[in-house]
Amino acid sequence: MAFLFNSDPVRAAVFRKVFARELPDVELFHSSECVDPEKVRYLLTWTAPDDIARYRNLEVLFSLGAGVDQFKRESLPQQVKLVRMVEDGIIRMMQEYVVLGVLSLHRDMVAYREQQKRQAWLGLAAPQAAERRVGFFGLGMLAQAAIERLLPFRFPLAAWSRSRKEIDGVTCFYGADQLAGFLARTDILVCLLPLTEETRGILDAALFSRLPAGARLLHVGRGPQLDQTALLQALDSGHLDAAMLDVTDPEPLPDGHPLWRHPKVMITPHIASVTQADSAAQSVVDNIRRHRAGEELIGLVDRTLGY
Ligand code: GLV
Repeated sequence: MAFLFNSDPVRAAVFRKVFARELPDVELFHSSECVDPEKVRYLLTWTAPDDIARYRNLEVLFSLGAGVDQFKRESLPQQVKLVRMVEDGIIRMMQEYVVLGVLSLHRDMVAYREQQKRQAWLGLAAPQAAERRVGFFGLGMLAQAAIERLLPFRFPLAAWSRSRKEIDGVTCFYGADQLAGFLARTDILVCLLPLTEETRGILDAALFSRLPAGARLLHVGRGPQLDQTALLQALDSGHLDAAMLDVTDPEPLPDGHPLWRHPKVMITPHIASVTQADSAAQSVVDNIRRHRAGEELIGLVDRTLGY
């Protein structure tokens, strides 16, 4: 029985060590090595290889990352389970980045960066955290983990999700009917939605117009969810105050794109959260054990919903 690792050899070496220790009966192959396709039961990859059909006994396809939008789900063999990467490294890094982003937006760091360029020593009036309403757009596992870390700052926290959820200390909105109410009370919008056909382009002019004047955006979802032109207009008109983007469309953001130099925009190159080989290997091992015991896999994707 084989596990095929279709990513960089450095992380493959880490996985190999963990597998040898924890699952000695599963042989790990790197994609550069020769493997009998019939033996492959598990595949870890960022995108599905074109020849995936040759792995006729494939049972589980592990995404290298937390997102699975890069897979063409309809072209994956029906019997294959698709699994998102859920591991401590990704979770911890997203917690760090969201706290960093929310605090940076709350404490006007984008504006201060601009002032520094002009050597302007000027304090800006700022509300206390208790008056700055933070809203999570998407309430999956990463959003919930980030919320846990934000709780001590006492921001009024809310979240919107497609289906109903309840989280202590968070005002929860759900469904299309409650979206406007959620946006109207959100001063810092944190987008952590998965990319699906429903969320493509969801951060558009109409949505921005429903946020209160002076609202700020922290985008850690996926680039294609954001209408970048609409964002630039909302920033230029003064309706939105600042945006911090870890994802763009396309990636990398092309040279000379107006977002690069916009005084109200801060960009990081999709580094908010990155799969860590050690903890990812352990979580994949645990999931393989669950799979063999006939238990539910952690991060199993609902193929009809797309996340
Ligand atoms: C990063 O964006 C991931 O999907 O892990």
